[in-house]
Amino acid sequence: MTKLKDKVAIITGASRGIGQAIALAFAKEGAKLVLSASALENLQETNRLLNEQGCCDAILTQANVSIGDEVNQVIKKALDTLGKVDILVNNAGRTKDNLLALMPESDWDDVLSTNLKGAFLFMKACARPMVKQRSGVIINIASIIGITGNAGQANYAASKAGLIALSKSTAKELCKRNIRVNAIAPGFIHTRMTDKLSEQQRQEILKLIPLGYVGEPRDVAEAAVFLASDSSRYITGQVLVVDGGMIT
Ligand SMILES: NC(=O)c1ccc[n+]([C@@H]2O[C@H](COP(=O)([O-])OP(=O)(O)OC[C@H]3O[C@@H](n4cnc5c(N)ncnc54)[C@H](O)[C@@H]3O)[C@@H](O)[C@H]2O)c1
Repeated sequence: MTKLKDKVAIITGASRGIGQAIALAFAKEGAKLVLSASALENLQETNRLLNEQGCCDAILTQANVSIGDEVNQVIKKALDTLGKVDILVNNAGRTKDNLLALMPESDWDDVLSTNLKGAFLFMKACARPMVKQRSGVIINIASIIGITGNAGQANYAASKAGLIALSKSTAKELCKRNIRVNAIAPGFIHTRMTDKLSEQQRQEILKLIPLGYVGEPRDVAEAAVFLASDSSRYITGQVLVVDGGMIT
């Protein structure tokens, strides 16, 4: 499997869930990985799984995605050790759900800082080396909630809608430098983020999924491999929905 052979990929929020699955799928395709998480020790499990599937150690980095100096250190480490950045996956994200009238200002700020500002900071930091090398791929993990909206998730929906707009705008800005920017909008995927939901909420959501089952992180990871590889060389500024048919 060599779709990403020797490509250097930075993946944020790679300690579990969708980010971990993307790391494992990219490594299988020959990518060299720089993984980032808010705490270094959280990445040990991903690294162990990489070794288990016969892949080399990844470069492990710590960064809160909403802090510019920490983000810049991740890019510096990638450039210092591997000399280039070919692929960036902005996957780190969080929810803090509440009805609008009850939502603390701090919950709005937290979700927007992580999901939207975090992607902006990583994209800005990666754009310079990518422009220099006249190539690059950026994938932003958005959500179908950023397209449809959802009661009780105004902050999350706004952050993911913003992430889609950020992807489309920067796709237009960077295409002349051979840098593609796309978003993936997952539907309901089995991770710790969705484990927070009650059984009743889960059953309600299941009724809305035409394929009849909850997606797995690897379903999103396979879409990311496609968008990261040359198989999608003529695709930029798009949103790839991975949701079992929930929205049409
Ligand atoms: N699970 C789903 O159904 C679903 C659906 C649509 C979109 N998504 C998106 O997919 C992405 C991954 O989510 P997941 O389901 O794997 O959730 P998860 O909670 O398992 O993983 C989220 C990751 O982001 C990291 N993270 C959170 N805040 C951070 C910060 N400030 N700095 C650095 N890292 C931070 C966490 O440590 C974790 O590694 C998120 O952007 C999420 O919004 C998930």
